[in-house]
Amino acid sequence: MEISFRFLVIYLVILFSFAFIGVAASSSSPHEDFLRCLSLHSPNSTLISQVVYTPINSTYIPVLDYSIQNLRFRTPCTPKPAVIVTPVEISQVQATVHCSRTYGLQLRVRCAGHDYEGLSYLSGVPFILLDLLNLRAITVDAENARAWVQAGATIGELYYSIGMKSKTLGFPAGSCPTVGVGGHFSGGGHGMMLRKYGLAADNIIDAQIIDVDGNLLDRELMGEDLFWAIRGGGGNTFGVVVSWKVRLVPVPKIVTVFDVGRTLDESTINLIHKWQYIAAQKLPDELYGRMSFRRPDWNATIQFSLQALYLGGATELLDVMGSTYPELKLKREDCTEMSWINSTVFFAGFPGQPLEILLNRSSDTKNYFKNKSDYVKKPISKFAIEEILKWFFMEEPGVPFMIWSPYGGIMSEISESSIPFPYRAGNIYDIQLSAAWTRGSVDEASKHIAWVRGLYDFLTPYVSKSPRAAYINYRDLDIGMNNEFGNTSYWQAKVWGTKYFNRNFDRLVRVKTMVDPSNFFRNEQSVPPFFLEDGKLEPM
Ligand SMILES: Cc1cc2nc3c(=O)[nH]c(=O)nc-3n(C[C@H](O)[C@H](O)[C@H](O)COP(=O)(O)OP(=O)(O)OC[C@H]3O[C@@H](n4cnc5c(N)ncnc54)[C@H](O)[C@@H]3O)c2cc1C
Ligand SMILES: *[C@@H]1O[C@H](CO)[C@@H](O)[C@H](O)[C@H]1NC(C)=O
Ligand SMILES: *[C@@H]1O[C@H](CO)[C@@H](O)[C@H](O)[C@H]1NC(C)=O
Ligand SMILES: *[C@@H]1O[C@H](CO)[C@@H](O)[C@H](O)[C@H]1NC(C)=O
Ligand SMILES: *[C@@H]1O[C@H](CO)[C@@H](O)[C@H](O)[C@H]1NC(C)=O
Ligand SMILES: *[C@@H]1O[C@H](CO)[C@@H](O)[C@H](O)[C@H]1NC(C)=O
Ligand SMILES: *[C@@H]1O[C@H](CO)[C@@H](O)[C@H](O)[C@H]1NC(C)=O
Ligand SMILES: *[C@@H]1O[C@H](CO)[C@@H](O)[C@H](O)[C@H]1NC(C)=O
Repeated sequence: MEISFRFLVIYLVILFSFAFIGVAASSSSPHEDFLRCLSLHSPNSTLISQVVYTPINSTYIPVLDYSIQNLRFRTPCTPKPAVIVTPVEISQVQATVHCSRTYGLQLRVRCAGHDYEGLSYLSGVPFILLDLLNLRAITVDAENARAWVQAGATIGELYYSIGMKSKTLGFPAGSCPTVGVGGHFSGGGHGMMLRKYGLAADNIIDAQIIDVDGNLLDRELMGEDLFWAIRGGGGNTFGVVVSWKVRLVPVPKIVTVFDVGRTLDESTINLIHKWQYIAAQKLPDELYGRMSFRRPDWNATIQFSLQALYLGGATELLDVMGSTYPELKLKREDCTEMSWINSTVFFAGFPGQPLEILLNRSSDTKNYFKNKSDYVKKPISKFAIEEILKWFFMEEPGVPFMIWSPYGGIMSEISESSIPFPYRAGNIYDIQLSAAWTRGSVDEASKHIAWVRGLYDFLTPYVSKSPRAAYINYRDLDIGMNNEFGNTSYWQAKVWGTKYFNRNFDRLVRVKTMVDPSNFFRNEQSVPPFFLEDGKLEPM
């Protein structure tokens, strides 16, 4: 009774805000009204005009393209924003939220544009692109092992700032330095220190967000429910994150890395098979070793590589590997000792290059790609591994790529409901499968996408079920999506929502209903609020 009354009130609020939009948007086109509103609501109208782009500005396309990672979404036919705003001040973020809401324009928020499906910079309806790339200040407090990082920064910029301040502090996030903290932390974020320190989102201790009403809220003001939801519940759903406060983690002065490659044959199948039993369950938390598979050219067979970070010296590492994984025959020459910050450059794929490469937001080679993800809870048999790897011969060499990333360690100790990311104890590793290609034709795309989907179907018996788990940062619209009207039902969203969030999905829906009942912040895979149908709340 009490609950349905609350939702009735929310429903009336929605009705009123739609009525208000109707009146406001009467005269000119919505985006002209938006521009006028923006200028009116910005403290300095000269300043705002310098960060607003429409298709008449010659810099509109370069600014739009700058952060697009997946070339599938950088074509003349890709839907484009009516306006791009690249705020340099928080008040401009507030004005952008206020004015797009007032004029019924959808808002897409972008940090560094790595979303696999391009959701941060494209939409099927008229929209505004809020690109945070200018808001990327980082303040490191090494003494207290804390940092504030603005949401437009990349993880490479964060690592660099930490490295400049301390040789014994680090941060557990992804290995590709061009990934943005805005999207990455909003979806969890994992990398080479996952087994020791968990996800990036496990290490967030405060945040500043702009809510649907344009208010700036920190942890205390937003409350623990919303603070819980933004640490992994997906971006563009609860508000615009302006900055994160993170806990930095201790790292030794010297760490050890290796990246050893092997060609596929009978003995290496044994190696791969055994990896499943040790990588998450036997190795110390200080050691993280992920396995990847590729087929470089027509004449070659499959190459796999084991890439690892050990938070300690090489001698110790060799001891550990000798006793748990002697089959790898790891040698001293395979191992390189270095500082943690140098290891981030190594795993970024630029071994030995100056640290400044971490600041380069366009160091990636861009291509066309489709990736999908899975979780493995029971080791896959040798026979099945061979069958899976046969798929690499059904595609052009160079196109298929697969990574197996181990869990375990502290990941098995953190509770499933600690933050929205649910895949903790019981998950041995995640699989990321992908096809990446360099020619832009539609035929190419459909051929390669069909291959990835085919392999994904083939994996069904070997991976998690009910739900078939997926990782939101490896965005995949194949697993289900919202409708385009913004009125997606709880049940429709639960199809994809359960795969990403499992039992945390319902709590995310409750938080969303509380903070954004009109579903202003949304995309194809944002958690929707409850909607009233026939005066009744849908059952949970
Ligand atoms: C080359 C490459 C390497 C990767 N490596 C890893 C890895 O090692 N580990 C891993 O876990 N993941 C990895 N990822 C996946 C990555 O974590 C996600 O794609 C992540 O969402 C990217 O964040 P972004 O800010 O760059 O992307 P964007 O496309 O800018 O944003 C992603 C989503 O977050 C939303 N968003 C962005 N900023 C904000 C904000 N300030 N407030 C609210 N919502 C926001 C966007 O609207 C969008 O929905 C990789 C991706 C790529 C392309
Ligand atoms: C407004 O911004 C412009 C451009 O940055 C600057 O030159 C000017 O001093 C600002 N005006 C005020 C009142 O702050
Ligand atoms: C885009 O063009 C408009 C109109 O000429 C101008 O006012 C604005 O400053 C331009 N934007 C940028 C970023 O230069
Ligand atoms: C593959 O092998 C054939 C025959 O040895 C050779 O002619 C060809 O150049 C090789 N192709 C590649 C891509 O290495
Ligand atoms: C880190 O890398 C730089 C540049 O390659 C190198 O000069 C330096 O010796 C390295 N330091 C450590 C401790 O690994
Ligand atoms: C960033 O990296 C790209 C690709 O490696 C390179 O072409 C470009 O010059 C780099 N930019 C800077 C500023 O170093
Ligand atoms: C998924 O996509 C990104 C972007 O191209 C790529 O860097 C990554 O390696 C892909 N595949 C896998 C298996 O991670
Ligand atoms: C959502 O809105 C559309 C367009 O107004 C309407 O056709 C559709 O029936 C609505 N769907 C639901 C589930 O309410």
